[in-house]
Amino acid sequence: MKPRVLFVYYTFTKQALRVTEDMESVFRDRGWDITRAQIELTDARYKDRFKQFPLQHRYLDIIRLLPAQLRRATGEIRIPRQAEVGDYDLVCIGSPTWWLTTCMPIRSYLKSGAAAQLLEGREVAAFVVCRRYWKNNLKTVKRLAEANGATSIGETHFSYLGGQVRSLLSLISYLGTGEYRDRYLGVKIPPTNLQPDGDDAARAFAVRLADHVEIVSTSRGG
Ligand SMILES: Cc1cc2nc3c(=O)[nH]c(=O)nc-3n(C[C@H](O)[C@H](O)[C@H](O)COP(=O)(O)O)c2cc1C
Repeated sequence: MKPRVLFVYYTFTKQALRVTEDMESVFRDRGWDITRAQIELTDARYKDRFKQFPLQHRYLDIIRLLPAQLRRATGEIRIPRQAEVGDYDLVCIGSPTWWLTTCMPIRSYLKSGAAAQLLEGREVAAFVVCRRYWKNNLKTVKRLAEANGATSIGETHFSYLGGQVRSLLSLISYLGTGEYRDRYLGVKIPPTNLQPDGDDAARAFAVRLADHVEIVSTSRGG
């Protein structure tokens, strides 16, 4: 039997997808069976704003999420069948940071009955993608997964170039244009999105996870 890994993630600008693809390449080379489940934000209050990239009203669209994120609110999502049932050896959860914490779609998934059913007794690994703020997000994903009866076997995060101000200006510029620009509001800005060495780091993380699961399975005689 091939070992099985599920990637469950939400992605808007495709950074969590990029990490997923890099990690998948490692599992694929090692002969694992790979399943993907992308969570969709279907909540009527937000879905139209987030159905297209770049954002039409970047400041407004981001700020509109602030109250819900501060309340740690959940919202309506669509959960693919693959993230409801399945006998996986490992579940990798990809969570972008929104307003300093776990984005609503991933929080909603982790608090759903589907996640409670799927994650019970499973090994999970979490990765956060963000501009800068990963700690709270990662801690939340781990806590919610463990509350569903999962065991966390690894965690990591990926963040952007630039200091506090320039990385923020660069992200805002990108969210509104979908392009990498040199300047925003007259300030020189670094490229946004995951750092160039993120791909290697994602693959190295996947190697550690695959090693762990394979070694444990061999020692159990599986
Ligand atoms: C609504 C919104 C709020 C965000 N808030 C934060 C934040 O508080 N801290 C941070 O480091 N990044 C923040 N970001 C940046 C995202 O975490 C980052 O762009 C992430 O890589 C997006 O992943 P995705 O492309 O897979 O959706 C925010 C992005 C959006 C769209």
